Amino acid sequence: MKASLRPPLPSRILSAGATLWFVTATLGQLAFVAFIVAFFGGALATGDLAGLNAKPHVTGYVPGDLVGNTQFLGHAVLAGLVTFAGLWQLVPALRRRWPAAHRWNGRLFLAVALVVTLTGFWLVWVRGSRLGLGSDVSISLNGLLIVVFAVLAWRSAVRRDFTAHRRHALRAWLLVNGVWFLRIGIMLAGLLLTPLGIRIDYQGPAFIGVSVASWLLPLAVLELYFRAERSRRAWTKTAMGIVLGVAALATLAGSLAAAAFMWWPVL
Ligand code: HEM
Repeated sequence: MKASLRPPLPSRILSAGATLWFVTATLGQLAFVAFIVAFFGGALATGDLAGLNAKPHVTGYVPGDLVGNTQFLGHAVLAGLVTFAGLWQLVPALRRRWPAAHRWNGRLFLAVALVVTLTGFWLVWVRGSRLGLGSDVSISLNGLLIVVFAVLAWRSAVRRDFTAHRRHALRAWLLVNGVWFLRIGIMLAGLLLTPLGIRIDYQGPAFIGVSVASWLLPLAVLELYFRAERSRRAWTKTAMGIVLGVAALATLAGSLAAAAFMWWPVL
């Protein structure tokens, strides 16, 4: 008799939850990349750099500040590249079809992630683009963790320890997307808190809470996912699959709101 190769139902639920979340995250991140290409790429292409201030920024474009403007614009444009490169790395079909592209794109992703992080540090702590101490410290912790996991992902790939590489690379990827999670998180928080009469301002607890959650929550969910993968208990896999399904709905809602209210209106 031929043995069935189909994984058991709880493993399929877990895998379906992860796939569904990844599909919604891909849609949301592609919308973010499209905004960056149109808004920042458009300003570069037309030379209308003053037009960048059509969108509220912390500091943004400052006439005459060549160094600051270059860091700001470089940071944003490379952010679009690293977000796209990260998505490419995670699509299994692309990885299987073009393994050499996976290696080169992986190097590109990790190197650009470090450049974007370092320019981000410069923007906050040297240029003085500050929203408030709580969120400045939060995004700086996010940046530090990007550096830590980018280095660990790189070293484990060089050592050909692919189990560790997968874990560190996924952590680095979620952390690089901290700023995207922050944007969709603010949208979701706005949808939930505004009807309760709670305002979200940059120095207030709601914004600081969403800032910290934007990198800590995805990391925590990823650790639970790793545990569920290893677990022999059916309910652990099933519950995690359901959690990821709910996260997919939230991601879709937050991304649609960010695209509609944050990105589209300034294009
Ligand atoms: C590596 C992941 C990162 C990505 C993908 C990213 C992406 C972006 C993007 C797209 C913008 C333009 C904002 C907009 O118009 O919506 C931006 C602005 C900014 N980023 Fe990042 N960022 C990252 C990391 C960081 C880090 C680690 C810091 C600080 C330590 C930082 C600090 C800033 C600041 C201060 C601005 C605002 C500049 C202004 O408005 O004057 N970023 N980032």
